[in-house]
Amino acid sequence: MESVIDATGVAEYGLLINGRWRRAARCFERHNPARPAEVVGRSAAAAPEHVEDAYVAATAAAGGWAGLPATRRGEILNQAADLVLARESEMALALTLEVGKAIRDARAEVRRSAAILRYFAGECLQPLGAVYPSATPGTLLHSVREPLGVVCAITPWNFPLAIPAWKLAPALAFGNTVVWKPAEIASGSAALLAMALTDAGLPPGVLNLITGPAASIGDAVIGHPAAVAITFTGSNAVGRRIAVHAAERGAKLQLELGGKNPVVVLPDADLERAVECTVRGAMLSTGQRCTATSRAIVVGERHDEFVERLSAAVDGLVVGDPCDEATDVGPLASAAQHQTVRSYLEIARRERHRLARGGGATDPEDGYYVDPTVYLDVDPGSRIAGEEIFGPVLAVMRARDLDAALAIANASEYGLSASVFTRDLGAALTFARRMQAGVVHVNGETAGAEPQVPFGGMKASSSHSREQGKAALEFFTDVKTVYLEAA
Ligand code: UN1
Repeated sequence: MESVIDATGVAEYGLLINGRWRRAARCFERHNPARPAEVVGRSAAAAPEHVEDAYVAATAAAGGWAGLPATRRGEILNQAADLVLARESEMALALTLEVGKAIRDARAEVRRSAAILRYFAGECLQPLGAVYPSATPGTLLHSVREPLGVVCAITPWNFPLAIPAWKLAPALAFGNTVVWKPAEIASGSAALLAMALTDAGLPPGVLNLITGPAASIGDAVIGHPAAVAITFTGSNAVGRRIAVHAAERGAKLQLELGGKNPVVVLPDADLERAVECTVRGAMLSTGQRCTATSRAIVVGERHDEFVERLSAAVDGLVVGDPCDEATDVGPLASAAQHQTVRSYLEIARRERHRLARGGGATDPEDGYYVDPTVYLDVDPGSRIAGEEIFGPVLAVMRARDLDAALAIANASEYGLSASVFTRDLGAALTFARRMQAGVVHVNGETAGAEPQVPFGGMKASSSHSREQGKAALEFFTDVKTVYLEAA
């Protein structure tokens, strides 16, 4: 069984364990966030014994996969990239139906996932170590990077394909096997990505997909002794729990967590660009990116002009059915997310922030929509300014000068991404040096990540590790140092 289509055309996906798609005793439904009454798919709800089987399969497959020439692993990833591109429409639609991402963005995510697979296919041909001079004559002193073994990947719903791609592709490229648990609501997209990888020739057991509610299998997935490394993207609360499990048994850990990402707009900024990037960063993907812009700190007397243009740009956004080509902003991904963001709108009302745009939300049965929302003169100490909302909500603040703006920008527990808008090279360099963020942009939006560079945050935004680029090699391998002397 790969998938079973029922009489109403709804697909049901199984669990991928040791190269076979297996059914579970129970399955769960996935609903359309734009029309919550509509079931868009069903996925198997794994039981703890499935998790055990997945780890047994991944452990058994580890030696063979690590022993394959890296070039062969690269070919499989390249082939998977081809298949993902060939299935662009189907994968994009699945993604839009299950998490509500605007269809244009969903297609872009499919292509991005293929590009990530392609990048790591290329990494299979890159050096895995270095040769060093030795104090002992005649010694070939070198280092070599080796696979870790079985890796556990836990992925979120906001990028159902791209984030899994940037965890699975390097894990596999560098010779590890994987047990993968995607967010429940993104389990259909996950099945499609897993199929592209197995159809590309991944041997049985190398990738195992376990779906189901975290409450029933989460601990079994993260706590299994066979998982020598855990890579997780998601909330700080869950990240902290995973860190405790990992520390208890000495597993290697990579956490990508929240953000409260600022843009700083200086008086000499190209305002048109600053506004466009701020609106895109804050509102596209309905604000559900850990790199989303959630604070705009405006320096000097062009504040009102910035706000005026920003409000006009927000008015120009098309909010609606994510399947519609014209839509910029779809619904939030789930009832829980809708509830959380609405509770922040309520908090903002209580904190008495000045509302420039938005502030409203639909009733949940009409879809999980929230209006793109902008608050003005937000107190930097307020909850709206400090907490990650993960919705289309922007807090605008004023600052006297760059120093004051940096002080506000850095007064956050998070430190993922940040942007400055200016034409002053000195100011840009000062910002890049003093901003406490893992990713800094000058005259660009806070969101986005290219696969060839390190991605990750400072402070509470990560476990001080980075993903993608060469950083992926560091996480997904161990170093062995070899002193080779002729006898
Ligand atoms: C992006 O901005 O395109 O969960 C990537 C997230 C981040 C990835 C963002 N880990 O939103």
